[in-house]
Amino acid sequence: MPDVSPNDTADAVDRGVWSSKLGFVLAASGSAIGLGNIVFFASNAYQFGGGAFYVPYFIALFVLGIPVMITEFSLGTMTGRSFPMALSKVVGAKGEFVGWWSLGSALFITMYYITILGWAFCMMVGALFGLMEGGATAPFAPFLEPSTGPNATAYFFGILSSWWPMIAVIAIWGMTLMALLKGTETIEKTVRVAVPLMWLFMIVLIIRGVTLPGGTDGVMYLFTPDLAGIAQPDVWKGAFSQMFFSLSLGLGTMTAYASYLPKDSDQVNNSFMVSLLNCGFEYIAGIAIFSMLFAFALNPAGSTLSLSFFAIPQGIAAFPFGVKLFGFAFFFLIVMAGVTSAISLVEGMASALIDKLGIDRKKALLMVAVPGLIGSMITALPFIVDPGLAGNGTVGLNFLDILDHWAFGYSLLTVGLIECVLLGWVFGAGNLRAFVNQHSKLKLGAWFDVLLRFIIPAILLTVIVWNLVIDLTGEQLYGAANPLGFVDWFPVVIPILWIVGTLSLATYLTRQPSAPDPTESPIATFEA
Ligand code: TRP
Repeated sequence: MPDVSPNDTADAVDRGVWSSKLGFVLAASGSAIGLGNIVFFASNAYQFGGGAFYVPYFIALFVLGIPVMITEFSLGTMTGRSFPMALSKVVGAKGEFVGWWSLGSALFITMYYITILGWAFCMMVGALFGLMEGGATAPFAPFLEPSTGPNATAYFFGILSSWWPMIAVIAIWGMTLMALLKGTETIEKTVRVAVPLMWLFMIVLIIRGVTLPGGTDGVMYLFTPDLAGIAQPDVWKGAFSQMFFSLSLGLGTMTAYASYLPKDSDQVNNSFMVSLLNCGFEYIAGIAIFSMLFAFALNPAGSTLSLSFFAIPQGIAAFPFGVKLFGFAFFFLIVMAGVTSAISLVEGMASALIDKLGIDRKKALLMVAVPGLIGSMITALPFIVDPGLAGNGTVGLNFLDILDHWAFGYSLLTVGLIECVLLGWVFGAGNLRAFVNQHSKLKLGAWFDVLLRFIIPAILLTVIVWNLVIDLTGEQLYGAANPLGFVDWFPVVIPILWIVGTLSLATYLTRQPSAPDPTESPIATFEA
């Protein structure tokens, strides 16, 4: 068997390594478990009808999630490099270009991911002060009068139209960078505390949720299969997209984390472990959230954020005891889970710059953090543009929503598609599988090649084309329907900014001379 990736010691010392398998599993599951598991999963499941969502989601885990995770992890250990350089090593410059393009999108996604965390941070602090009490107002038409009881929606928009999120966003960027200062060493220290803590808080919340009168009805709703719902193609599209985001796929993150593992790591085992931990957490979060929704007959109408940011705090405010404490715990949980994901997003970009340019870590972090922080601050801008709340209320929220629609709606799945084509067809699914099987207890069969070469690309292509058709045949560009006043150019400028920005960045970085690769030997292949 040829030596596929000689990770010599010099390389290991320079780039960092995980101190143990546990450290890696905590970090990778910390990346996967994030806003996606709490905020987005629950709102997707609610939107599509609980019992209609979890069956396609479960299937997506095995057909799409775990195989792509095996691919991204193995790419990291096989090459010992981060995403663009790893792809460059297996398929050449076109792979590198795709890698940088995906990291450009990761930068945009990180910007607003951290802004949402900033809002959660404000709500967390607010839970100890005004959030759980009456009297909230916001300078928006529906909330001008002080509320008589706790009103999370008014409180949220009150915060959104203030400068507090700006401070919170700076604080979250600060925490994220601190955790990344010494690479794997500081990431591991952070996740060893944060990941167990978020499981603990989630378990406390689930116990509270299901012991509320009527709470178990929510659990039933979430898990009773709804056959009519499952037959709708929309549900499947939602499930596949959600799976990709939730498992942190398609943005180079998992490859970066896996590149700090010894090359003989069992990636089948790792992928199952991380994916199952992630989806386990997701279902637990779903149970906690749905039990509260049903116990208090809450109706989270409106946007994705409304379920976690308005409905749940409203429910918690009605608890018989411990209102402030549970309110704080819920948002603390979101912040913890989100920060460990933000860490991985930034690490994916920073480690790629280190590998490519041979620069030191602090410089790479700065190169990511400066544009990232500026973007986060723009998506946190409090100016009110839509006081009637027909769409989104503030400049920041509008910007965020449209950016999310394009960057998130297309980039992850497109990168996933190209990645599967490059590895399945250009590098060869058989080669990849041979590498994986060298080190795994559970051997992948030829079915893996079929998934990687045909089934997964077909699924991803269908979802992408479908999204495009919806976007391009709609009457207006996404976001144009909102009465945005002076920002009515947003829906045009933002997608252009994202596409042009990420493509030029990718072109520029691919053309830069690469620093020498300490793991020099080329990847040996088994097929022609
Ligand atoms: N998986 C995280 C969540 O569920 C978000 C995330 C982190 C992510 N890194 C990523 C999503 C890379 C896509 C790609 O919140």
